[in-house]
Amino acid sequence: MEVAIWGAGAVGLGLASALARPTSRVRLLVRDPETRRRLADEGLRRSGRFGRIDVPPDWLRLESDARALADGPPDFLLVCTKAFQGPSVAEALAPLAPALAATSLVLCQNGWGNEAPFLAFWPGERLYHARVITGFQRRASNAVDVTAHAAPIALGSLTGADPEHVAPLAARITEGGLPAETTVDMHGVLWAKMLYNCALNPLGALAGRRYGELAEDPHTRALLEAVVGEIFAVLESAEVCVAWPDAAAWLETFYRDLLPPTAAHESSMLQDLRAGRRTEIEALCGAVERLGARHGVATPTVSALAALVRQAERRLERGA
Ligand SMILES: NC(=O)c1ccc[n+]([C@@H]2O[C@H](COP(=O)([O-])OP(=O)(O)OC[C@H]3O[C@@H](n4cnc5c(N)ncnc54)[C@H](OP(=O)(O)O)[C@@H]3O)[C@@H](O)[C@H]2O)c1
Repeated sequence: MEVAIWGAGAVGLGLASALARPTSRVRLLVRDPETRRRLADEGLRRSGRFGRIDVPPDWLRLESDARALADGPPDFLLVCTKAFQGPSVAEALAPLAPALAATSLVLCQNGWGNEAPFLAFWPGERLYHARVITGFQRRASNAVDVTAHAAPIALGSLTGADPEHVAPLAARITEGGLPAETTVDMHGVLWAKMLYNCALNPLGALAGRRYGELAEDPHTRALLEAVVGEIFAVLESAEVCVAWPDAAAWLETFYRDLLPPTAAHESSMLQDLRAGRRTEIEALCGAVERLGARHGVATPTVSALAALVRQAERRLERGA
């Protein structure tokens, strides 16, 4: 099986560490020359949950230009960029699509709607998503730490592709030390993560509080619950099924099972804003807003949080 990974960030390196084999190198599209140099000289190191793995340089095939994918197309191409980088990946991938007619695309980003720029030229029956709730942190340009693991990486499709086709990919990631599985319910799986992310991520960034503190404070708790209520209203109108019948049932699971192990976590959006990086607000609250607008459902709390995060991003752009 030939696998290529687009984007050598935290998730891309984490997945590469599980997929690389001496007999079948993983192809890694790396745009940063320094990262390419260190991977080529020293290989890739993974540490943290699931132990340490050292991937020698000759288990990796490093590419600087996506056009290299066209000669010797991979079976699977995993897109591991941030959600807002998806459109530029799609733009570079589009001219290569005819040469990649046997390749399946797997979008590993957070959020909802990331497939849109790809569907203009890539058939839905070869398009998959990965829901990742394993935490990866880059320690160096060629080193990644697995900091958390809530559930196996779930591979499946929103666009009618056969989940059985990605079963060997899930098996290979698992053999490489990161639990992965396939799912026939990608809608439900992605929205379960959307609920958690939209409830905590923007609010954590704006309030500057850890997840547990957001739930303890009655004001932020009310906002969090309002976000969840609005998302359930949107999902009902959009006829998307999730594993919970309503917001109250999801919140019960959230307070009992989901929040306690992550109560001390800081929002990744808070870390992005602190580091002066763009956030994924559009793929999270922005996607809920757009879906709500399409189905005539108001999302005032989600929209207010999105507006404030956008404003914080604009302040960063202006250097304020
Ligand atoms: N990290 C986690 O724990 C985690 C967990 C679950 C889900 N996710 C999701 O996974 C996605 C990736 O997150 P991440 O943490 O891995 O982000 P990241 O560390 O910023 O990695 C993204 C990588 O993509 C590269 N890239 C962007 N555009 C590119 C292009 N056009 N060509 C080649 N490379 C390009 C970036 O290169 P440069 O380094 O040159 O900018 C960067 O190395 C996000 O949607 C995130 O929400 C992350």
